[in-house]
Amino acid sequence: MKQAPKHPVRLERQGNVALVVIDNPPVNALGVSVRLGIAAALNAALADDKTDAIIIAANGRTFPVGADIREFDMAPQEPSLGQLCSLVESARKPVIAAIQGTALGGGLELAMAAHYRVSAKTARMGLPELLLGILPGAGGTQRLPRLIGPELALDMMLTGNQVSAEIAAEIGLVDLVAEDDLRVEAVTYASTVKKPRPTSEHRAHLLDGAGYMAAVAARRARVKAELGANALAPLKIVNCVESALLLPIETGLQVERSAFEECVTSRESKGLRHAFFAERAAAKFPEAAEAKPAQVERVAIIGGGLMGSGIAIAALQSGLAVTLVELDEHGVNSALERIGAHYERSIAKGRLSEAQGAAALTHLQLTNKLDLIGEADLVIEAVAENFELKANLLADIAVFAKSEAVIATNTSYLDLAALAEATGRPEDTIGLHFFAPAQANKLVEVGVHDDASAQAVMTALGFARALGKTAVRAHVHNGFGEGYIGNSILEAYRHAADIMLEDGATPSQIDGAMREFGFRLGPYQIADMSGLDIAYARRQLKPRSPDARYVEIADKMVEQGWLGQKSGRGYYIYTGGHHMGVPNGDVLKMIAEHRAHKGIVPRKFSDRDIRDRILLAIVNAGARLLGEGVAARPSDIDAVMVHGFGYPRSRGGPMMDADATTPSIIASRLSVLAPEDPSLWGAAPVLTMLANERQKFADLNTV
Ligand code: COA
Repeated sequence: MKQAPKHPVRLERQGNVALVVIDNPPVNALGVSVRLGIAAALNAALADDKTDAIIIAANGRTFPVGADIREFDMAPQEPSLGQLCSLVESARKPVIAAIQGTALGGGLELAMAAHYRVSAKTARMGLPELLLGILPGAGGTQRLPRLIGPELALDMMLTGNQVSAEIAAEIGLVDLVAEDDLRVEAVTYASTVKKPRPTSEHRAHLLDGAGYMAAVAARRARVKAELGANALAPLKIVNCVESALLLPIETGLQVERSAFEECVTSRESKGLRHAFFAERAAAKFPEAAEAKPAQVERVAIIGGGLMGSGIAIAALQSGLAVTLVELDEHGVNSALERIGAHYERSIAKGRLSEAQGAAALTHLQLTNKLDLIGEADLVIEAVAENFELKANLLADIAVFAKSEAVIATNTSYLDLAALAEATGRPEDTIGLHFFAPAQANKLVEVGVHDDASAQAVMTALGFARALGKTAVRAHVHNGFGEGYIGNSILEAYRHAADIMLEDGATPSQIDGAMREFGFRLGPYQIADMSGLDIAYARRQLKPRSPDARYVEIADKMVEQGWLGQKSGRGYYIYTGGHHMGVPNGDVLKMIAEHRAHKGIVPRKFSDRDIRDRILLAIVNAGARLLGEGVAARPSDIDAVMVHGFGYPRSRGGPMMDADATTPSIIASRLSVLAPEDPSLWGAAPVLTMLANERQKFADLNTV
């Protein structure tokens, strides 16, 4: 466990101004030792006759980014952040916050409790609590509306969006934007302010009560319409802002406190917090002990199809130079069209200005000459999923790539170690598995085989992080790890769904049950979107165990030419302007005939049966991956499922869901749901496995 710094807060002095300096790397989170330190330093400065004003400042890259999220599951320790903010606000001497970096959550609440705010030009401010299923709980819901008005306050709290220093000054969140040196200018400012100015006494925004009340009511209706009547934290935020308008601040703070407590103990918030830490834990690769990521300035991508172009866009968006290699002129032109169309769409939607779009494209070099990859620090092969094709290409890449370059294959199923061998430089070669659409999907799996060097792995990780992706390590070894984590789980998910389809459920019933659970799309909608032919081609190549149950429905559909959205027909029909499609009656008829042919008497599945069977199949596949050492931690599986496959983030992930379910329930559901399908659950004793992994994980975290 990380040790808290011994002195996370120091009291400094410049003339008659005292500086309370927070120093709690990396992000100055406001854990209990910091809160105690601030309170002590503040009290000392208040007691000192030679101090006329007090600045709260922070060392390092940022003003506090919030409360310490890890403390939310612990017993409360005083002073709470709310108590600290009250102490700051009631100070008898002027208190000025000097803000740099990102003042988020509790950090901004602390700044708002100060009497004045000075910020660096590059600073940003926001209240992102909603993204963790909570609300500002240290007075933020009461002080922000007093400073900037209830409507803007609701905008900030209901989106979690950050505002720049310039905007903050415009809307009244900060009093001064420093021109150059924040600390120096804050001290000068402090010597000009004469007396405290408690935020709770700001009245201007509370006076137009009637107009604001109508605006708040309208916002409540909008939240309910968009998120449903049970959207806990968003509705509580609206209630708290309403309280700010109607009640004295002391009462408003009490309303906020009880709303915060209800949210922080909710399953939704626990899930969102788990997802936050899972993403960060996944990026901790064991190779970090041996190597640091090398800088990637230029990336070469071979293959400008949907995947290659998507990776190119993601890299361009992050400011990298890209060399995109296609086979011939036709390939070059279609890649250019695809990337151009993306930029046109982004410009049309107002996400980019024309100038930004044009500037990004100047960093793109499109060519059909493989020898131009020689300047790239990383070369990614993203051609069709065919072993011969990839192996030959990788051998050529190894010839032209510079000796320090890392070589990556975007394979999702092929034998990674054999592909690495084909380069003749296996130590430089790793897997980098992006998910379509690569410019938007946040997940990247880093496939690590036993001969890969720590340097190659870390450089690939650094690249994925530079693209803003959540990177998860998949260890491919001893025949384990085909399909890495994501596709192995997806296969189990699809298999569980297909068995229910064959036994009596319909595609739309299964999709509906999974959407109801929280997935944006059900498995058959995803199949239609991806194109049934892709998975079909893979199945044809894959050896099949004669003992495993096999469902031929999807194969029969491909043989009929029903490929999903691309052919207008799949599990759904996509004509007549139905974007989501309407169930394809021919498929239902075909399934009925198929059952009759196999002698299957259809039975009914409740939505709960569907959901549980699929979730248990996912969890079981996850447990197996942990047992095989492909995934390092249960939370890595959660990160993959949330980012790559749309598992509802507010549930944290499937492994968190399994952990939250008592083993006896899992056991009884397993035996009730699928006693006849051992292949569905596999031989992995899921419960023992989970218990073991939980213990391992707990041990890791207490070292
Ligand atoms: N409490 C505890 N730990 C926090 C934290 C918080 N509020 N915010 C960040 N951290 C930790 C991260 O877990 C990470 O720890 P690790 O190095 O052990 O993995 C470390 O600080 C750095 O964070 P990271 O997210 O990797 O850095 P970044 O530069 O990419 O992003 C932030 C920085 C602040 C934008 C991002 O961490 C963030 O959004 N934090 C949450 C902010 C928030 O929601 N505040 C409101 C809570 S009240």
